[in-house]
Parts: sequence; structure tokens; C-alpha cells
Amino acid sequence: MALFCLVGLSCTAFAQQNKNSAVDIESKIDALMAKMTLEEKIGQLNQYTSDRLATGPFSPNSTKTEDIKAGRVGSMLNVRGVKDTRDVQALTLQSRLKIPLLFGLDVIHGYRTTFPIPLAEAASWDMDAIKLSARVAATEASASGLHWTFAPMVDITRDARWGRVMEGAGEDTYLGSAIATARVKGFQGDGLGSLDAIMACAKHFAAYGAGVAGREYNSVDMSDRQLWEVYLPPFKAALDAGAATFMNSFNELNGIPATGNVYLQRDILKGKWNYQGFVVSDWGSIGEMVAHGFAKNKSEAARLAITAGSDMDMESHSYIDNLVKLVNDGKVSVDLVNDAVRRILRKKFELGLFDDPYRFSDPAREAKVLDDPANKKAAREVAEKSIVLLKNEKQLLPLSKNIGSIAVIGPLAKSNIDMMGFWSVKWDNDHLISLYEGLENKVSKQTKLTYAKGCNINDEQETGFAEAVNVAKNADVVIMAVGEAYDMSGEAKSRANIHLPGVQEKLIKAVKATGKPVIVLVMAGRPLIFNWTANNVNSILYTWWLGSEAGNAMADVIFGDYNPSGKLPMSFPRAEGQLPLYYNQKNTGRPLLNAKDVLYKSAYIDLPNTPKFAFGYGLSYTTFSLTDLRLSKEKICSGETLTATCTLKNTGKYAGAEVVQLYLRDMVASVTRPIKELKGFQKVYLKPGESRELSFVIDKEKLSFYDQTMKWTTEPGQFKLMIGDSSDHIELETNFELTDSTPSAHL
Ligand code: BGC
Repeated sequence: MALFCLVGLSCTAFAQQNKNSAVDIESKIDALMAKMTLEEKIGQLNQYTSDRLATGPFSPNSTKTEDIKAGRVGSMLNVRGVKDTRDVQALTLQSRLKIPLLFGLDVIHGYRTTFPIPLAEAASWDMDAIKLSARVAATEASASGLHWTFAPMVDITRDARWGRVMEGAGEDTYLGSAIATARVKGFQGDGLGSLDAIMACAKHFAAYGAGVAGREYNSVDMSDRQLWEVYLPPFKAALDAGAATFMNSFNELNGIPATGNVYLQRDILKGKWNYQGFVVSDWGSIGEMVAHGFAKNKSEAARLAITAGSDMDMESHSYIDNLVKLVNDGKVSVDLVNDAVRRILRKKFELGLFDDPYRFSDPAREAKVLDDPANKKAAREVAEKSIVLLKNEKQLLPLSKNIGSIAVIGPLAKSNIDMMGFWSVKWDNDHLISLYEGLENKVSKQTKLTYAKGCNINDEQETGFAEAVNVAKNADVVIMAVGEAYDMSGEAKSRANIHLPGVQEKLIKAVKATGKPVIVLVMAGRPLIFNWTANNVNSILYTWWLGSEAGNAMADVIFGDYNPSGKLPMSFPRAEGQLPLYYNQKNTGRPLLNAKDVLYKSAYIDLPNTPKFAFGYGLSYTTFSLTDLRLSKEKICSGETLTATCTLKNTGKYAGAEVVQLYLRDMVASVTRPIKELKGFQKVYLKPGESRELSFVIDKEKLSFYDQTMKWTTEPGQFKLMIGDSSDHIELETNFELTDSTPSAHL
């Protein structure tokens, strides 16, 4: 590869060249496979973790080095950096056939430069920003010897108790599918073979986000309708965007573990969807089928997994220990093994690893790319866009940079480490900017910043309150930083109580009692519950965990250098008892029409049905109006499209962006339909006084659903069309009629 660069061929040109040679990749695979023993083939299906980093329990097996040299390993996870990947790749070159290893890692939201957690990025509703984040991550990771990220997680998440909501795009299928596409394209850039592209991995196939009661790794029981309508489309979007790999999941689906699930992997993914990439198991999930009570032992688990279409075994050692015998005993057809090997080798060829197994491990490129200041700049921009303004009473925000004094209070005010979130690739020398540092960087010399921690994140003690109150009393305004520690959301971080942890809300009450204006920043990996705060403080910014440039981005928003434009990608509950909570519910036979009349209605007698903050909600420093809704037609047949047009105007004093959201409701159908479903959105930037006409095109696909026989079809009848700035704030509404029924191919 170095030679190509020397003669001036760009990465894209190499990708092209590599792609062209893809015509004979299949014959190269044939030739290679003809030389491989059964054991070498099964070696390709085996993935081990390096013992340095891990996201799951370690295996006691310590023969990894010898296994690599013997050609018994196809891929390693958690080896990173040019030096380490070179060292480990060198081991495989001692094997008989010298088949290069694939190096994979959880590059979830940035590699060297940490970007906002995925749920935060989803709040940007900005596909270019999300793609940029994945692009930068891929550029850095590929320069550091990596070929593969285990991202994006495209699981729909409707239950904030589940810790992994931080890793996804939230509750909505339409938004989630758009984000899945953006992330896959961002990671894979100009395509495999390009020096700055890494393989994406759509995970976790499937329905992992729907574990009962939000409990990690829990069982999932769901109708086929919900699976196809809500949970599968983001996977299909990732596949259509070219996702090189898929990962299956830990959960069982309707009694069958996903890893051994023929319906999911063979029938849907590799059958109906004709997927040509490969499927990696989740960490140990093949072996875990024994604990599920689905396989007697790991040998049976291996047979079930390969039969179901799991191509690579991540760290359960079930394939490497059992498959040779299973094939030799006639219990597993060698064709299944050959198919899995072929899929994996194809990716190694596409990446160009047979031309040069070290092509992603160039020390000069690593040094240059990892230190590129443009990456931090990108992280700051994406972080600004991820912040959601939840409340801004009397336009307290933005603050003036010349303000006299600010009291900065709270356990997260000076925290750097929590800004990284659960899934960061941890770097010893990374300096994540805390809120306090961001404020220091921003304010003028005249502004006095004072600080009190008040309490720790999980404290039950109030001993720091007096100092915090004192600091607040002596300031013009108070900024409070509260929320979760970085390891309170993420894998294996389900929580039954998702209120603001410890005594943090009591601290807010104590500070607010000073009478000073209070701005609260909530830093967390999931929607939290903080009803008192929401009702009583002046301004609230939901900042999630924003990564390397967190503090700078927060300061940009606090002082108005960036006008917040984020919108919530998940509903925020009032109480855990509302969970799972999502905006696109069904009407039921007894809908709650009047909040006061809950008797014998589909309601709670002790709490409203509505979320505290709705899906799609988020404020700006400016105001917008939406007017003039017009439809191109009032009746359409399914062969036609309908265009809805409206006018967005910035009616306030600041330039800013609004996310205009289009929802549809099929009023009567042979299967009941949700009260609204997102079917379009546009993020539009306008100067004060500026207006723009926006058009949304509605086609058959947006009007279709699965009928009683699970056929994807339209049915004639009335549709309600709604446009607003949030799922609970519809400003424009009209009806149109669809005149016919047309089944079509879907997913
Ligand atoms: C997680 C995956 C992750 C894998 C490798 C598992 O525990 O569920 O999402 O990619 O570990 O670290």
C-alpha cells in the first residue's frame, strides 16, 4: 500500500482499484480454501480477545498465542494501536497459510477523539454530524491498526432502565433507521479497501433492546408484527447502507436465543435479505446457550449456532473446541463451515489484507491522524449539536460573557472522566474538557467563577450543601452540573431507579432556595427523572456525556456561541412505572381524552400518561413559527406521491436551527395503527426573520403497514398528517385520503 501512496494514488483510488479486483475475489477464495484443512477453516471462525482490554468475562484459556501461530484464530478483538496490531499480525504470519487476522474493537463514539455518546448524537437529528462523527472515528481507528468496529448499535430502545440506551439512537424506528444509515456510511467511508474505512457491525440482531423490564440480557417476547415493524427496519437500513458485518445478540427471542435462531439469521438476514457479509456472535453468546437451557453443552451450542448462521464465535471457544469433531462425526455439514469461512475471507480480501497484512498499521500515519486538530474541532461541533435545551424560563440563557460572577456547583462540574461515557476507548493521555474548564476558557477576565461540589454523584450525605449554598449566595447566577457517572449507563448497567442519583436533587433544592437564578446541566447516559428540578429551576440543558470537547461545547451553548438545536430521541418518563414509554402508542378502546377523567380509561390514576419531556422535544434561544400547510392533493392512489408544504419562519432574535417533524396516522385499518408515527423530518437553519418553504413527500412506503396476514400493504382510507416541533406539539394538521390498496415488497 505504501507504494500506491508514493505514486500518488489516493485512498479512494486504491479502494476503486481494490473493488475492481473484487471480481476475482471469489476465485482467490476458492484457491485459498482448496488449500485449507478443516481445522484451519474453523480457525477462521474463531475470535479471541486480547487479555489487555475486555468487555466480558475472561476465558481461562491462555493458549491464544500458540493458537494464532497454528492458524486457529481468524480475528482478535481488543488489540489496538500500530505496535500491538503489528506484533499480533506477525504471529499469524508464522502460520502455515499466513491468513491475516481481522482486528476489531468497540469504536462506539470516537477512537482517539471521543465524540458524544450515540444517544446524544441522535439528539442532534443531524445526519451529516452523525456521519462525520463515525468518519472521524474510522479515520483514527484505521490509522491505529483496526479493521472493524462493533458499531453501530441499532437496537430500538424504549425503556430507559436499560443501560445500553446510551449506545443507540433512541425509541423511534424512522429516526433510528436514518441514523443507522449515517453511521454505517460514516464508518465505511469510500468502501472497504480504502485506507480510512473500517467495517461496520450492525448489532445486536435482534430485539436486544426489548428485554423484559429493561433488565440487561433479559428475555424478549414480542409479536412478529412488532419485530418487523419496530425492531428490524434499522437493521435493514444498516444492511442497505452496506454494513460489512452483523452481530447477533445475547437475548432469546420468543424462546429461542438469537445466536441459535434460524429464523433471524438464516431465514431473514441471509435468506430474505440475501446478506453477503458475516455474522459475529456477541461475547460468549454461543456458549451462553447452555445457560439459556437451549443447548446441553458447548458442542451442542456450536452446532446450533453454525446451523442458525452465526459465522464467527466471539470468545466462547465453542467453535474451535468442537466444530472439527462435529463435522467429522457428520453432525454439522462442512458446507455450513465453508459458507462461514468464505464470508469472512471475502472481507479480508476486500480490506486488502492479503496484499499487505500491515496496511492499516503504519506508524507515521497513526501519529499524524491521531494528532489531527480537525478531529477535536469536529467533536466540539457534534457535541454542540447534541445538547438539548429543556427549559429556559424568562430567557435566562444565553448568559453574557461579561457577567459578574457565576457559581459552578455539582458533582459533575469539574469531572473530566465522566464526559467520556461508558464506551470510550480509554486513553491515558486524553484530556476531556470538564464544564468548569469550558467555562474558564469562555468567560471574560471580569467574570468571577466560584466552585463548590456540593455532593458526590451517589452521596447520601448533605455535608457539602452549606458550602454550595454559600457560594451560590455570592454569585449572580448558578450553573449546576448533575447526573450520572460514566459507568452508570452502558452495558450491564440496568437500573430500576433512574431518578437523579443520590442527594443531587436535594442539592438543587437547597441552592434554588437562595433565590438565585439556577441553570441545571444534566449529564447522563439515559433519560433520567428529575421532576422537581424540571418544575422549579429556571433553565435546563440536557448534555448527556459529550466526549473530549464536552466543557467547551457546553460553554458554547451557555454563552450563545451555539444556539441549541437538539431534540430528544427518547421520551423522558415522570416515573419508572411508565416504562416502557414511547410516543407512537396505540389509541386503545378507551383512550384518555381528558386528563381529569381517568376513570375506566387507559390511564394511571396516580400519574398522567404523558412523558415529562416528549420524543422530539427541545427548545432554542430563538422562536419559530410553522404556517401555511398545503397538500398537493387531497386524495391519492398508492402509485402517486403527495407533497405536504409548509413555511418555517425564525420569529425570534437569534439565528438557529429547528427540526420540523412530520407525523402520520392511519385512522382506520385492518390492524390498529399508532396514534402518530414519525415519517419525515428536516433540520433547517434560519437567520432571524428568515423563512423557508419546506416540502415533505409522502409515498406508498410511508403509508404501508403489515396487515393481518403480515403482508406489507396500504389500505384505502383517511390519514391524518401532522407537522410540529415535537411529537407532543403539533402545529399543523390536515387529512388526506388514500384510495386503494397495494401490497408491495418490504424489508
Ligand atoms: C457487547 C457487544 C460488544 C462486545 C465486544 C459485548 O459484551 O454486548 O456490544 O461489541 O461485548 O466488546
